Amino acid sequence: MNLFTHSGNPIPQLGLGTFGSDNYTADQISAAVIGAAEVGYRHFDCASIYANEPEVGNALQSVIQSGVSREDLWVTSKVWNNMHSAVEASCEQSLRDLKLDYLDLFLVHWPFPNHHAQGVDVNSRDPHAVPYDHNAYMATWAQMERLVERGLVRNIGTSNMTVHKLSALLRDAAIRPVASQLELHPHFQQKGNFQFLLENDIQPIGYSPIGSPSRPERDRTPTDTVDVEDPVIVAAAERLGVHPAVVCVLWQVQLGSIPIPFSVKRPQYEGMLKAVQELSLTEAEMLEIGKIDRNCRLIKGHVFLWEGAKDWIDLWDDEP
Ligand SMILES: NC(=O)c1ccc[n+]([C@@H]2O[C@H](COP(=O)([O-])OP(=O)(O)OC[C@H]3O[C@@H](n4cnc5c(N)ncnc54)[C@H](OP(=O)(O)O)[C@@H]3O)[C@@H](O)[C@H]2O)c1
Repeated sequence: MNLFTHSGNPIPQLGLGTFGSDNYTADQISAAVIGAAEVGYRHFDCASIYANEPEVGNALQSVIQSGVSREDLWVTSKVWNNMHSAVEASCEQSLRDLKLDYLDLFLVHWPFPNHHAQGVDVNSRDPHAVPYDHNAYMATWAQMERLVERGLVRNIGTSNMTVHKLSALLRDAAIRPVASQLELHPHFQQKGNFQFLLENDIQPIGYSPIGSPSRPERDRTPTDTVDVEDPVIVAAAERLGVHPAVVCVLWQVQLGSIPIPFSVKRPQYEGMLKAVQELSLTEAEMLEIGKIDRNCRLIKGHVFLWEGAKDWIDLWDDEP
């Protein structure tokens, strides 16, 4: 199943995430990429900060050697915050690691150049961290545009943006973003952001589509809610005879988004693809899920805050 971006490229409507956090090793993830390709996945969501692109690259190479055409794959990567001034070098490194000569999509992972060491506590603050600066972002974006001109990437896009920041980008960009990655699950529906993307012909790609149930303790707060335990999700799962995780993903597909769930477990990723190909939620279920938004952002971005920022809400322009 493909959707088409405004640049005319077919993009598979279910991708596999490759961020293992503290839970899964690079080798487990590269094995999952091979397994997922065997069962039919063609879309893989990567990033340099996931610290596994060389291993994922080995997996992609073996997928291509097994007979899958490069043209049928959709591979995304992202420039990390500490490389906003060296976007081309970051992309070239990702290409070397992933063993590809072009990427289907390259994203600015976060709109801030604020870096933090991996695994740090959410209360740690980088003394060099700064608030969002549109001119600085546009300087980064100009380097993204150069990658398109050089043929190293077919599409460019954004991640972790707000309507406020996207509006300014659309006003000033020479090459528009083709896709935008946003946290999206039934308890965090980002209706304003999502609608803005659709209205501006920017393909939404939803991360943490299941509500990231296995995220590390440091990324949990007492007010976080659990999508897969919501009675509306559980009821739909019981009707379909699937895990509630599958309902979260189906909901997103039916909204017109592209979910990128993570899994290294074959029954999970195989079942997910089969469900997306064969099952659907009813209109009534879609309407009910539309009503269970809890505005529960899970990836709050605390570690990107600058000295003097009030709290993580400052990263998101006060948008829900
Ligand atoms: N752009 C960004 O800033 C950004 C941020 C975060 C994530 N991402 C991308 O989004 C991807 C997914 O996000 P995520 O890993 O946070 O969360 P997620 O996909 O919402 O949750 C992943 C977890 O859900 C469980 N799961 C997966 N399939 C299942 C199934 N069929 N049945 C039951 N449980 C299932 C697994 O738990 P167990 O392992 O415990 O079985 C898995 O670890 C990442 O890998 C990454 O590629 C992007």
